[in-house]
Amino acid sequence: MSDEKTTADSTPTATPWWRTAVIYQIYIRSFADGDGDGIGDIAGIRSRLPYLRDLGVDAIWITPFYPSPMADGGYDVADYRDIEPLFGTLADADAMIGEAHDLGLRVIVDIVPNHSSDHHRWFQAALAAAPGSKERERYIFRPGRGANGELAPTDWESAFGGPAWTRLPDGDWYLHLFAPEQPDFDWENPEVVAEFEDILRFWLDRGVDGFRIDVANALKKDQSFPDVGADDENAVLAPVEGPHHPFWDRDDVHEVYRGWRRVADEYAGDRLFVAEAWVDSPDRLAKYVRPGELHTAFNFNIVRAAWDAKELRTTIDGSREASGSVGAPTTWVLSNHDVTRHATRYGRLDSTGGGVTDEARVGPDTPLDPALGLKRARAASLLLLALPGSAYVYQGDELGLPEVVDLPEDVLADPIWERSGHTLRGRDGCRVPIPWTRTGPSFGFGTGEAWLPQPADWAELSAEAQKGVEGSTLELYRQALRLRHDLLHGEDLEWVEVPAQALMFRRRADDGSAVGCLVNLGSEPVPLPAYDKVLVASGPLDDDALPADTAVWLRLS
Ligand code: GLC
Repeated sequence: MSDEKTTADSTPTATPWWRTAVIYQIYIRSFADGDGDGIGDIAGIRSRLPYLRDLGVDAIWITPFYPSPMADGGYDVADYRDIEPLFGTLADADAMIGEAHDLGLRVIVDIVPNHSSDHHRWFQAALAAAPGSKERERYIFRPGRGANGELAPTDWESAFGGPAWTRLPDGDWYLHLFAPEQPDFDWENPEVVAEFEDILRFWLDRGVDGFRIDVANALKKDQSFPDVGADDENAVLAPVEGPHHPFWDRDDVHEVYRGWRRVADEYAGDRLFVAEAWVDSPDRLAKYVRPGELHTAFNFNIVRAAWDAKELRTTIDGSREASGSVGAPTTWVLSNHDVTRHATRYGRLDSTGGGVTDEARVGPDTPLDPALGLKRARAASLLLLALPGSAYVYQGDELGLPEVVDLPEDVLADPIWERSGHTLRGRDGCRVPIPWTRTGPSFGFGTGEAWLPQPADWAELSAEAQKGVEGSTLELYRQALRLRHDLLHGEDLEWVEVPAQALMFRRRADDGSAVGCLVNLGSEPVPLPAYDKVLVASGPLDDDALPADTAVWLRLS
């Protein structure tokens, strides 16, 4: 166990680390396999910690590693205080936290409070108990409608498709906003509130630096259980926002987080919460990061924005204004384990970026230009890393990995595939295991085959193939992260007027100089402004011009 446990000193430092941190997301199943069973694990993470230190990130966020039947890649948790045997043991987790800290890397774990697995002991007890029992009050059980209770209690739809209610043989229905194997907790029940505060303490005591909160905007439900109505636009992972929706982003969800913040503040060392809340407006998102609530919330607006200068600038300003109005930093995200990888989104020939909802995902038939996608992805990375605030890197972004759009149907594991009646392929294409080496059965991911097949041409995208190679995506990230670490800690940003197809802003660097970030989102070159030095560029420059779909950081004169 880490020795960081202390409840004495809760004084936050002047600029807590998380305001400017770059946090690397590890989708544990697909990161590195330490025991050769084809599935990533804690041993694999431990073996790659030096790589992450050398990459230059400040922290890692690990997706759920708890015991789970894996109905939703571990987001169906059967026990919040243990480790899934496929991934290792609690002792392995303790060792990993200690080793990461020794390398200067913070560790964030994923907490899933909206729902558990149907294998959780509380849900098992609820199934064994009768309708109306205390055991059922920890979840959301309701009688059905219709003469014999044969109709679901409401018309709510699951985010993965199909009804959000499942009926038990005894006639009672239970709510699951996601898969039927993910029953929703009843957050009106004080036992649930107390249980989660205790789970937070369990992990804080083990030395974790923070929590990523899964579907943070879904916990509270309208207690009158109204229908949503026929015109609900409850698309997968892109729900309509509150405060009047019966379950998304309701105002009373904030009570939960005020309680959680009090728990985190009992601990030394600037522990962090980051909320996953897909809400539409930056103002609704800012409510989660008000003083006394969470520290940060993922800002998904760049994920949703097209590759367009005006749209990106508006997005950046809107996000900064909203989080700034409550004193919180902005966080920036390009990709994660739920959305089409940005190297592929930006290569779409039928649209220009965007594409978060499942309907809009890139599929086998989407017209694509992979080279264009990678070029823009590299430029987007420089944009992201130049922005003030905190930034997230999803594993494989630093290798320029694309979405695998043509996985064979018989390997698809995302519940969306089954729940949609095989009409939506789901999210597996962004979860294909990382290629570490040029050779080997799974390109060094493990010693055997990986749980999802990797394309043959990933040999040349492997970390080994890119390491030390000038101009590779891996070296681009390393260079940018080093520069960011050395120079960019303030929260200032000043726009510079450039041709409409481009974006440029300047930042004050720690050494007193000014750093400019210029991104060309158009198809014609744009002239470079007066500068002293090119710090890093996402592609070759054309004398005094920045080519299309390229970004550059300049030391300005
Ligand atoms: C979040 C996770 C996603 C998961 C869902 C249900 O959106 O990021 O992967 O399927 O919550 O837990």
